[in-house]
Amino acid sequence: MGLLFLFLLHAFFRGNPSSSSSGLDHVFTGTWVEDQSYPLYDPATCPFIEREFKCQGNGRPDLFYTHYRWHPLACNLLRFNGLDFLEKMKGKSIMFVGDSLSRNQWQSLTCLLHSAVPNSPYTLDRVGDVSIFTLTEYKVKVMHDRNVYLVDVVREDIGRVLKLDSIQGSNLWEGTDMLIFNTWHWWYRRGPTQPWDFVELGGHIYKDIDRMRAFEMALKTWGAWVDANVDPTRVKVFFQGISPSHYNGSLWNEPGVTSCVRQKTPVPGSIYPGGLPPAVAVLKSVLSTIRKPVTLLDITTLSLLRKDGHPSIYGLTGAAGMDCSHWCLPGVPDTWNEILYNLI
Ligand SMILES: *[C@@H]1O[C@H](CO)[C@@H](O)[C@H](O)[C@H]1NC(C)=O
Repeated sequence: MGLLFLFLLHAFFRGNPSSSSSGLDHVFTGTWVEDQSYPLYDPATCPFIEREFKCQGNGRPDLFYTHYRWHPLACNLLRFNGLDFLEKMKGKSIMFVGDSLSRNQWQSLTCLLHSAVPNSPYTLDRVGDVSIFTLTEYKVKVMHDRNVYLVDVVREDIGRVLKLDSIQGSNLWEGTDMLIFNTWHWWYRRGPTQPWDFVELGGHIYKDIDRMRAFEMALKTWGAWVDANVDPTRVKVFFQGISPSHYNGSLWNEPGVTSCVRQKTPVPGSIYPGGLPPAVAVLKSVLSTIRKPVTLLDITTLSLLRKDGHPSIYGLTGAAGMDCSHWCLPGVPDTWNEILYNLI
């Protein structure tokens, strides 16, 4: 009887993968509250933090953006506890797969963990496209595999081909205990920074196709990879939701503003006036077709509210550039990881 019940329970959850995203709405609906006990770490305790995210080190004068905590309307989040995280993940490996927004979250997690055990030895290596942070005493590995489309880009006689039906993945993905995928920001690249010349879909080669459709097709290919390759009893799979940018003030009721520079406070309340980017609906619809459990870290709305959280002129290129896509660290991605901690 007990076994039958367990079997039915298992079948129920297996059959309702979308419950893993919609069932968590209560975590992702909330508001930002000022909390002087944040940030979760001092940037000085994270010696390997990269210039791209090191806003304070790059001269950002205000630190208001570091003193906010995410407060879900219907529940309380546990404060991130690095020691507890390490105990839970002892001997395990975590891999972020995706673009520089994945790297942003990866870097946040490495800082959160190192600052929790500052005297515990660590190594930081790079093998090809993979960065590997290891806390050797705990045998915990936190990796980032830079892979901007998840599907393959292959150099052929005609040029570089973005293959929407093909995903080689990586041996490393399959040996990992927790995988957190992401792709979005590169789908609308054109011109010299577009890293492909042709698109292949369904056996046909195109010069270009509708980019949202390409994104959707790639997600479906990735979902099929998950269904074919992931053993859910061993591996936990997450998708890091769409991380938003802030270049259009009309969307937060400041028409005429064209960047995030000098933004010092979040949007108040729980609703972003500009609504959600359309990619979110595409992502959710594809996730609902995947049979294996995949948890969506649905960070879009909470991040949309943080127009103050980007590097702006205190990023990689300094005053020559304007980065309203990545996030300062300490900052918003620490909250993504705090939520991840609450989910595991
Ligand atoms: C900014 O957003 C508004 C409102 O959605 C839109 O009408 C306008 O075209 C956008 N501006 C740019 C530069 O994208």
